[in-house]
Amino acid sequence: MKEFIQSLPKVELHLHLEGTLEPELMFALAKRNDVDIPFNSIDQVRDAYSFHNLQSFLDIYYQGANVLINEQDFFDLTWAYLRRCQGDNVLHTEVFFDPQTHTARGISFETVVNGIHRALVQGATELGISSKLIMCFLRHLDEESAFKTLQQAQPHRDKIVAVGLDSSEIGHPPAKFERVFKNAITLGFLTVAHAGEEGAASNISEALNLLQITRIDHGVRCSEDETLVKQLVSERIPLTVCPLSNIKLKVFDTMAQHNIVELLRKGLCVTINSDDPAYFGGYMVDNFSAVANAHPMSKMEIAQFTFNAIAASFISKSEKERLRIVTQSYLDLHP
Ligand code: HPA
Ligand code: ZN
Repeated sequence: MKEFIQSLPKVELHLHLEGTLEPELMFALAKRNDVDIPFNSIDQVRDAYSFHNLQSFLDIYYQGANVLINEQDFFDLTWAYLRRCQGDNVLHTEVFFDPQTHTARGISFETVVNGIHRALVQGATELGISSKLIMCFLRHLDEESAFKTLQQAQPHRDKIVAVGLDSSEIGHPPAKFERVFKNAITLGFLTVAHAGEEGAASNISEALNLLQITRIDHGVRCSEDETLVKQLVSERIPLTVCPLSNIKLKVFDTMAQHNIVELLRKGLCVTINSDDPAYFGGYMVDNFSAVANAHPMSKMEIAQFTFNAIAASFISKSEKERLRIVTQSYLDLHP
């Protein structure tokens, strides 16, 4: 099954670029930019990646981002991730970035978005990996800061396809950003939001109703509300699930207890994603393998995660059809 997973065409829909900062690159950028980091060695960094909940991760994740200063840093970060995609046979990826993490430190919005965009364009031409960029608002910050960020994104409408919502879910419900999302939709952005990761299933319903999102990031706590599960199935609302992330952040105790396969078998449009792979122990192949090892599945079921991700992506109908055919051909050749 390992070889089947390795070569299976994949589509990633939940990936924070800041969460792809490997300790090696963190050290290299700290040196290049003369930034102090509270670690003496790469092993010490990896030892610090032991989390007991979402907030304990976020504290370290925002600290790591301090080494990103110049446009080239954002290019290098994004490019390193795209090379990982190439290794894992990820054909299309929709990636998040958190502008406020950088603008709050005096880095301009342009520096961030231009570095990322340049790498994504090069990824398409040199690696054949297509992509979309999603700008997330940090939900622990206020509405005013989100509105300001939305305004900064305006000149870059051609580079950013959607807005999202991430950071600390508990205490910062979707309702806090209802007006920001309404405005973003008026401006032509698609919308997604993290909901039902650590927070209750009611956050998923609230995000659907108030933020008019078209897919849910995480969403695994939907299981607590059977009516909601039925709605997600009947309306084909996708969940971008991140299995290794959920174990690292103690959303589930073990992979065997993870509900992703149960949700797949109930007919939900669930997908597998890596979230913050440098912090959570793996990229796409690692996430697929961890799920398949804990939950015996047929090859068709494993491939269904790719078919679901194609359907849930923000690419055109014709691009979806092309990826669907590529995946179906692979499945036909490896029954
Ligand atoms: N949840 C919320 N915010 C985040 C995450 C996550 O998994 N990763 C990066 N920011
Ligand atoms: Zn996430």
